[in-house]
Amino acid sequence: MSETSVPQRILFVCLGNICRSPTAEGMLRQRLAQLGLEERVEVDSCGTGAWHVGDPPDPRAIEAASARGIDISGLRGRQLASEDFATCDEILVMDAANLADVAARKPANARAQVLRLMAYAGQPDADVPDPYFGGEAGFLYALDQIEAAVDGVATALMRRMAVDDA
Ligand code: 4NP
Repeated sequence: MSETSVPQRILFVCLGNICRSPTAEGMLRQRLAQLGLEERVEVDSCGTGAWHVGDPPDPRAIEAASARGIDISGLRGRQLASEDFATCDEILVMDAANLADVAARKPANARAQVLRLMAYAGQPDADVPDPYFGGEAGFLYALDQIEAAVDGVATALMRRMAVDDA
């Protein structure tokens, strides 16, 4: 096995790890399974905050994802850890506040590259807005944003794998 076949590690980050980032995790897991790449990419999510450590996703996020055939009910919240900067290739954050929080904790020798998720939908300065304090429409909007970007992540991973295999 060549060094390049080591799994890529992608970590999605939001504030609470119960709405946006578990949705992105579930969606990318599903896309990778459809592409037969699930063994080659490790996907995880976490929050910058600790309020929901050990909690399942918000019922509204579970419901919105379920309506698109994605089951995120088994995921559990955890907080960003310093090891994540060493173990992950990419840390994909949802909004500007997440970006500032993650950048403040990022060590100088981090392996991980930190990017806004929407960069993968061609919008490097766009947020996936926090739907937690709003209604169902916010969850659906977040899901649409996440879907567009996760498709971009899956495409980029496929290309990276093809280059590695060449
Ligand atoms: P998330 O949404 O960052 O998309 O998981 C939130 C969840 C919980 C809280 C804020 C945002 N909270 O304040 O508890």
